Amino acid sequence: MSTASNVPAPDGEDQGRQWDRVAAGWKKWWRTIEDAARCVSERMLDLAEVGPGQRVLDIATGIGEPALVAASRVGPAGRVVATDISSRMLDIARERAAMSGLANVEFRQADAGRLDFPGGSFDAVLCRWGVTSLPNPSNALATIRRTLAPDGAFAAAVWSAGADSRPLASLAAAVAREMFDPPAPRPQAPSLPGSAEDTLEQAMIHAGFADVRVEEIGLALEWVSTEACTQYILDVSPELVALFAGKSPGQRAEYRQRLAERLRPYVLGDGGVRIPNMTICAAGRR
Ligand SMILES: C[S@@+](CC[C@H](N)C(=O)[O-])C[C@H]1O[C@@H](n2cnc3c(N)ncnc32)[C@H](O)[C@@H]1O
Repeated sequence: MSTASNVPAPDGEDQGRQWDRVAAGWKKWWRTIEDAARCVSERMLDLAEVGPGQRVLDIATGIGEPALVAASRVGPAGRVVATDISSRMLDIARERAAMSGLANVEFRQADAGRLDFPGGSFDAVLCRWGVTSLPNPSNALATIRRTLAPDGAFAAAVWSAGADSRPLASLAAAVAREMFDPPAPRPQAPSLPGSAEDTLEQAMIHAGFADVRVEEIGLALEWVSTEACTQYILDVSPELVALFAGKSPGQRAEYRQRLAERLRPYVLGDGGVRIPNMTICAAGRR
C-alpha cells in the first residue's frame, strides 16, 4: 500500500527485517488498506481468470493479499500457496485466514527471488505491489513463468508512475526530506523502475509471457481524520519506521504536523481524509 518508498531504506537492512517491523502496523490498518485495495485484487483475479478448483500462487503476500480473495474464489476444491519474506507479515496473514475460515490457503516464508516450485505447479500466479521490491525482477518473472501450467496466467499490480499515483507516499517522503535530508538511495541490484507500466510490460514480454495486457485502476484510501492518516503512514511504511527509530517524540510530532498541513487538499467536510491513488495491473499467459 502507500509506503513512503522515496525515503531510502537504511543500509544493510534486509527486506524481511524491515517488513517484520511494520507487521503490527499492517495488522492495525488492514481494513483501511483492504477497503481500498480489494478492487485491485478482484481485477487481478479476473485478469488471471482465477476460478473454482484452481491452484494459485501469491508472491509477496504480506498480510495475505490477494491470497485470501483468491482462496475464496478457488473454493474448497482449489488451493492457494502464499509466500513472503517476512515471517511476521505471514503470522498476520495466517490469523486473517483463520478468522475468515479459509482452510485452502497455506503460507510459506520464501524469498521471491529464490522460488523453487516444480515447473507447471500453478494455474495462476499473483503478485500485488511486490514485484518492484525484488532484487532481480527479470529473473523472478522468468521463474514465475516456469512455475505456471501451460495455459496458466500471471497478474501483477505495481504503482503507476508519478507523484500523483500515491500522493500520501510522495508527501510523506517530501516532508521527511525537508526535515531530515535523508541520503540518496544507494545503487542497488538491477530492478524495475518503481512504477513504470511500460517497463513491467516489456519485462513480461521479455520473460516470454504471451498476451500481455496492462491497465490502470484507481483506488481511494480513507481515514476518519488527518491524525489517523499521519499515524497510518508512520505505522505501515518500513522506511519511515526506520527513519523515526532514532528520532525524538518532538521530531515525530513536528513531522506529523507538517504532513497534516500538506494533506489539507484531501480533507473532507466531516474532517475525514480521502486520497485517490492509481495503480497498474498487468497480466500475461505462459
Ligand atoms: C507493499 S507489501 C505488499 C503486500 C501484499 N501483497 C499487499 O498487496 O498488501 C510488499 C511485501 O513484499 C514482501 N517482500 C519484499 N521483498 C520480498 C522478497 N524478496 N521476497 C518475498 N517477499 C518480499 C514484504 O515482506 C511485504 O510483505
